[in-house]
Amino acid sequence: MKTLIVYTSVHHQNTEKVAKVMAEELGADLVPTEKAQPDTLAAYDLIGFGSGIYFMKHHKTLLQFVDLLPAMKEKRAFVFSTSGDGRKQHHASLKEKLVNRGFSIVDEFTCRGWDTVGPLKIFGGINKGRPDEKDLAEARAFAQGLKNKM
Ligand SMILES: Cc1cc2nc3c(=O)[nH]c(=O)nc-3n(C[C@H](O)[C@H](O)[C@H](O)COP(=O)(O)O)c2cc1C
Repeated sequence: MKTLIVYTSVHHQNTEKVAKVMAEELGADLVPTEKAQPDTLAAYDLIGFGSGIYFMKHHKTLLQFVDLLPAMKEKRAFVFSTSGDGRKQHHASLKEKLVNRGFSIVDEFTCRGWDTVGPLKIFGGINKGRPDEKDLAEARAFAQGLKNKM
């Protein structure tokens, strides 16, 4: 199964840690969004899209990348994130955009990530040390589960 993971991770590289574990488990190509080539996506069976959550959505770099993709035919995708509150509801915008481009979403993963936005940094932020070993083990199990869904 040829897999690509496209990710943006700018706050504390939290999502990058998750993306690396998933890529390792899936034997996937791992590419930061700014280096991803829209015309190469057609060659993959499964594509993962992930970033930290910014103002209740995925990072705008990733959302804009998806907006510019050509329409896909029966292309499978999964989405993932890290965030302060670890809620999957933040995936709604990205999922909607992907479905509009012709993707079907096979699964989604989220976990908490170290967050020092605004006044939080005075106290060292929240979720320090996240994603931790347990989060990364869950990300690995999620990636393993994707193989059974294909
Ligand atoms: C400007 C900014 C806005 C954020 N907005 C949210 C938010 O709306 N909800 C949330 O749960 N976390 C929010 N966070 C926390 C990040 O989603 C969290 O730290 C994430 O793990 C960052 O991922 P990254 O290090 O891969 O970029 C925000 C962080 C920043 C810096």
